[in-house]
Amino acid sequence: MFLADLYREGIRLLRSVYTDNVEFEVECILKFYFKFDSIDFINHLQTSISDDQYISCLNLVKRRLSYEPLDYIIGNTQFMGRLYDVSPGVLIPRSETELLVQEAQCLIPHYFSSSFVGLECGFGSGVISIELALSFCESSWLSFDISKDAYHIAQKNSKRHNIDSINWNHMDFFDSKSLWQDSDKPLFLISNPPYIATKDLESLDKSVRDYEPLIALDGGECGLDMYQAIFSLCQDCTFLMCLECGVDQADLIIELASTYGFRCVNKTFDYHHILRIVSFTNQL
Ligand SMILES: C[S@@+](CC[C@H](N)C(=O)[O-])C[C@H]1O[C@@H](n2cnc3c(N)ncnc32)[C@H](O)[C@@H]1O
Repeated sequence: MFLADLYREGIRLLRSVYTDNVEFEVECILKFYFKFDSIDFINHLQTSISDDQYISCLNLVKRRLSYEPLDYIIGNTQFMGRLYDVSPGVLIPRSETELLVQEAQCLIPHYFSSSFVGLECGFGSGVISIELALSFCESSWLSFDISKDAYHIAQKNSKRHNIDSINWNHMDFFDSKSLWQDSDKPLFLISNPPYIATKDLESLDKSVRDYEPLIALDGGECGLDMYQAIFSLCQDCTFLMCLECGVDQADLIIELASTYGFRCVNKTFDYHHILRIVSFTNQL
């Protein structure tokens, strides 16, 4: 039996469920299992493999048949062109969130001339804090997540990218105020909070609903609970903040923000023309 036989069988199996990206996904799983890069993969298609290898690698492909996300199967994902670890229990970073990072990269230099303290509410795999710590070498970060899985993966990811300017905190962001309220440096906050309305969770894709952590998705009755809590917690310190939001939420969030003294300073649409990123300040 050759690697090419396994590749063909993987494709045949996945085609029974998916129409798009099938070859790409099987190639990713095979490369992960055999620890090949892209060149190795092509060169090894005629390499013989054992029955055990055939069966156990095909078992990985079969996990995709039950809609498990590819990134969980192979244990990593790409974000802003870099490779990050992910694992079940931690949200897989989305491409929209790259826009959130880009928004912060553009806005921060307009507001802060030197170092600042970055706060992240809900770091998940840690990609946002890490990307911004890489962009702003003078910044220091206090990043918070309530999930233990997230805490472990984010630490792994900061080691992977040699970052030591982030203080990862496994705690509820809403208990963190004593850690930053007396900062003598300007405060920046970034968050991609859980924003799905509880009633909409059932209608999410199976691959999200059955595999990704509820704590990363459920934004309460209207999906806006975390935004309100963030504005309420931060209203008596001066902040610049960038927030990701869900479909049709931006205008409600802007209205909510104004009741806590925050004004919107920028809005960004995603690739589907959905208003996805809103930025605020309460600086005079
Ligand atoms: C939508 S995920 C975002 C993860 C990551 N920042 C990203 O963009 O891929 C939201 C994150 O908020 C975390 N979270 C939920 N409630 C929290 C709270 N009260 N305090 C801190 N983190 C919280 C979840 O565990 C989850 O990791």
